[in-house]
Amino acid sequence: PSFAFEPHATPVEASERAARIVNPGFGRVFTDHMATIRWSEDKGWHDAKITARAPIVMDPAAAVLHYAQEIFEGLKAYTLPDGGVALFRAEQNAARFRRSAKRLAMAELPEDLFVASCRELTLAEREWIPAGEGSALYLRPFMIASETFLGVKPSAEYLYCVIASAVGNYWPGGAKSVSLWVSKEFTRAAPGGTGDAKCGGNYAASLLAQSEAIRQGCDQVVFLDATERRWVEELGGMNIFFVFDDGTMLTPPLTGTILPGITRDSILTLARDQEITVREERYSIEEWQADAASGRLVEAFACGTAAVVTPIGKVSSADFSFQIGDGQPGERTQALLKQLTDIQRGRSNDPHGWMQRI
Ligand code: COI
Repeated sequence: PSFAFEPHATPVEASERAARIVNPGFGRVFTDHMATIRWSEDKGWHDAKITARAPIVMDPAAAVLHYAQEIFEGLKAYTLPDGGVALFRAEQNAARFRRSAKRLAMAELPEDLFVASCRELTLAEREWIPAGEGSALYLRPFMIASETFLGVKPSAEYLYCVIASAVGNYWPGGAKSVSLWVSKEFTRAAPGGTGDAKCGGNYAASLLAQSEAIRQGCDQVVFLDATERRWVEELGGMNIFFVFDDGTMLTPPLTGTILPGITRDSILTLARDQEITVREERYSIEEWQADAASGRLVEAFACGTAAVVTPIGKVSSADFSFQIGDGQPGERTQALLKQLTDIQRGRSNDPHGWMQRI
């Protein structure tokens, strides 16, 4: 379907909008419109439209409110130096959204419809794209089970929606090294579970461990695998990379319990383009500790769409605490961040065609 456009009756005034998108922080400044598409067993995908961003009215018995049948995505739109607008690897988000839908037994949105919804909303809201370094329009597609029914079964109706938020740096204090707390008590995902799907429940399940990390004076939690409790998996919402003194890198493999990050994949590609050896292999907490102590490990960083590339300075747990290198952002980390953001901001060529002009 094509998207019907019902413009907002009272959009935010240009001067007010300009003020809101300066230093917007993360996830609090929203645009005027949203894209929605509905799905039902009898009609399939229908009623695609761009309308005023407004509360979603639903029955208190809507399935999502009870059994968390929900998935989401996160991707960014950028203004290019020539004034054009581009989405970064939206087709990858579309494919992952479909895989997440399958895992959560939800209707699978065709990938072209996903991309079209992101494109149409971004075009309607292009004035909201902030210009500052580190800023972008963050698109948040999501889908909820909207059937009014308390039985535990896949919903017969879904609401797909995309909202947009002008964002700056994910970290309130600006980009710096973050400290991690290794959770020994909690895990994020078990084999056969939903760890590789982007469903809200995974993030809900990370929050208590994240609170513990904060209570312990750290910025973020890092999870170990659920079976042996020794293999490093990922943070609450970011993948992790390690850089060694011989120039090689390592990131945990996609074994089903790790979210297949699009930033993760982009970093792998950028590194391999430069003939850097990157192993996708398991890495234990014992190795991490030993390699940091011996100096074999020189850098570590976290990555994701929201936080881009974030250096890791210090790692603590109940029984240890160690620093990586001198605790400051490392050279490789900063180089990869620059290479990625140069492509995203249209400052360097884009050999893999990651930026789609809209
Ligand atoms: C991302 O967009 O990077 C996410 O994974 C969502 C969340 C951590 C903000």
